[in-house]
Amino acid sequence: MQLYLISIMKQLSRLIIKLMLLTSTYSFAGEGMWMPQLLKAMNEKEMRDAGLQISIDEIYNTSKSSMKDAVCLFGAGCTAEVISDKGLILTNHHCGFDAVQQLSSIENDYLSKGFWAKNQSEEKPCSGLSVTFIVDIREVTNDVLSGINDTMIESQRNDIIKRNIEELEKKTAIETKNGAMVKSFFGGNNYFLFITETFKDIRLVGVPPSSIGKFGADGDNWMWPRHTGDFSIFRIYANDINKPADYSPNNIPYKPKYSFSINLNDVKENDFTMVYGFPGRTTEYLPSEGIDLIRNVSDPIKVTARTTKLAIWDAAMRANDTTRLQYAAKYASVANGWKKWQGEMKGIDRTNIIKKRRETEIEMSNVGKRNSNLQSTEKFFAQFDLAYEDFKELTRKRDTYFECALGVELFSFCNNLNNSIVKIEDAKTSDSIKKVECEKIRKYAARFYKDFRPSIDTKVYDAIFKNMYDTALGGELRTNILKLFSGRYPTSTDVYSSSVLTNKVKGQHLIDSIIVNMESIKNDIAFKLSKVLIDYYNKNIAVAYSSAEQKVNALGRTYISKMMAAFPNKKFYPDANSTLRIAFGNVKKYQPRDGVTYDWYTTYKGILEKENPNNDDYFVDAKLKKLFIEKDFGNYADANGELRIAFIASNHTTGGNSGSPVLNANGELIGTNFDRCWEGTMSDIVYDPEQCRNITLDIHYTLFVVDKLGGAGYLLNEMKIIKK
Ligand code: ARG
Ligand code: GLU
Repeated sequence: MQLYLISIMKQLSRLIIKLMLLTSTYSFAGEGMWMPQLLKAMNEKEMRDAGLQISIDEIYNTSKSSMKDAVCLFGAGCTAEVISDKGLILTNHHCGFDAVQQLSSIENDYLSKGFWAKNQSEEKPCSGLSVTFIVDIREVTNDVLSGINDTMIESQRNDIIKRNIEELEKKTAIETKNGAMVKSFFGGNNYFLFITETFKDIRLVGVPPSSIGKFGADGDNWMWPRHTGDFSIFRIYANDINKPADYSPNNIPYKPKYSFSINLNDVKENDFTMVYGFPGRTTEYLPSEGIDLIRNVSDPIKVTARTTKLAIWDAAMRANDTTRLQYAAKYASVANGWKKWQGEMKGIDRTNIIKKRRETEIEMSNVGKRNSNLQSTEKFFAQFDLAYEDFKELTRKRDTYFECALGVELFSFCNNLNNSIVKIEDAKTSDSIKKVECEKIRKYAARFYKDFRPSIDTKVYDAIFKNMYDTALGGELRTNILKLFSGRYPTSTDVYSSSVLTNKVKGQHLIDSIIVNMESIKNDIAFKLSKVLIDYYNKNIAVAYSSAEQKVNALGRTYISKMMAAFPNKKFYPDANSTLRIAFGNVKKYQPRDGVTYDWYTTYKGILEKENPNNDDYFVDAKLKKLFIEKDFGNYADANGELRIAFIASNHTTGGNSGSPVLNANGELIGTNFDRCWEGTMSDIVYDPEQCRNITLDIHYTLFVVDKLGGAGYLLNEMKIIKK
């Protein structure tokens, strides 16, 4: 069976690029995260129909400078855009948050108060931050699949692919003197090579106070209407020949190949927009069973556990100001997924996509019956369903473990501690690496303890760990836990009071000299209990999960090729995988529910409406308020004399698109992408043109804040601004 599938897959794989390139009757509605080097062949007509005015060559070109040279991956998972010929880059506040937090102290609290460098010498180096540009993109499917044959099992196949990729990356990096990375597309039917250039001297130029950059915080997150001034500004520095270099005071501002012009004309309803960036991950081609797994297994487990945990954290944060600060960032990150998945579940139900995907599969089977190469399609689906049965059960266990065991802060801390210990104790680890690892865990512990409150974590333990113990995972885990506690279920007191690791001072002391204190750490009761959990996970979940996942992925690869073959007139875009993409759409309102229509833009008035002196999340800075009340909007007012804050459009975006440039029909910057509307968050799985909207911070508000509030108007002199 396996052999047969591989041979079908190989035949189909050859068809795929051809199919991708076919012009079709597919009508455009905003869906898709397209590969920039294929736009010309695949999307030009629709982009023109949607309103694009410039040539595709201006968007992506490897023989002369083009817009792609002004779009970079920012840090690990955001996007930024170059907005001056001195290397100034714009991204979101929440993308720059970590860098700003690291630069902040009680005396210089840039997070709360904001920061504006008054000249280049005041710009603040952000250690550890980097940005990456794409130099070139090449298809390398044949090279990556070379040596693969029909007799191979999946793990053999994966090993060869891995080796081929490593070789290709190494060779390219040497040849081009740049970074090189190969990524899989369409579930592994195609591979592309990305040649990259990474800059490591990045400095903070300006950031608004959190009351602007995070206005509305978690309450407004994923929601429309929105009023968050979610931006921050950095600058790229290079060495004297304009090449990437580690931080040095001698570095100079990077001279980019391209920088975006900023257009201050008012955006209008239905205007063309495109988003150029690095979307992280989507799964648009799942079988019905795969969507069912997300809807009925994964999302509910994660949402349920997090609802309990967030309620505990929220109560503690409301009761105590120090706790509020300590838990703010953790809360935001846990709540971000929690809120999105709820929208996603609703969206899956509303679009009825599980049923519709089943119907698609029936169509695929029918096509299969007519085509002699695809006779086995029905058998294929039966096999896929079976593979999903296993995968679902293992996903249930794995998600439960991650949310309910590692969701307890103490256990996730011990898990990281254990990873370090394993590395340090490994005979193969050299002394110098050991030293690095000791330092790493020491620093990690310091960060952890700074924001850790055992009295809060015990409540989380009692609430979510107990439930998992009782119901969710196997009897073997219970037996092992009971063994450790002489036959009794350990209460939070049993674990937290007898542990030294729960104590900030003593715990840090142990970890500061981890090698000397190894035995004490290993004998700590919290560590021992964690070890039981980790061992259980490694033995009963991890290996089985990855082999089930491998099976599902292999079948998924065939599934995508079958789908492409069954619908030759449909254009397919690859799932997001943190590579450079273009989404395009139009500025549009939407109807979130019956009888309610959401307008497509917001103004400063909404900030005044939302202002709440009793809630920091809706605090309005006095200076900002004065400017608003006096309507002192300068160049940034719209035709009605109002200041616009944000707008929505039908671009298909996801996590990673944060900070992406939002461009008009002429490729000029009109805003920065920062979120999606809640009702459309199922677009990671299925895009619905009626409901899916990306949220853009209007460039008028960004420049208004820089100029009028930050007093950093000098930065505007660097920018190319197209005035009305
Ligand atoms: N929802 C946006 C994204 O997914 C913003 C997240 C940051 N803001 C927050 N309140 N957690 O990244
Ligand atoms: N806020 C998200 C990010 O950080 C973008 C929102 C989305 O998922 O579309 O990338």
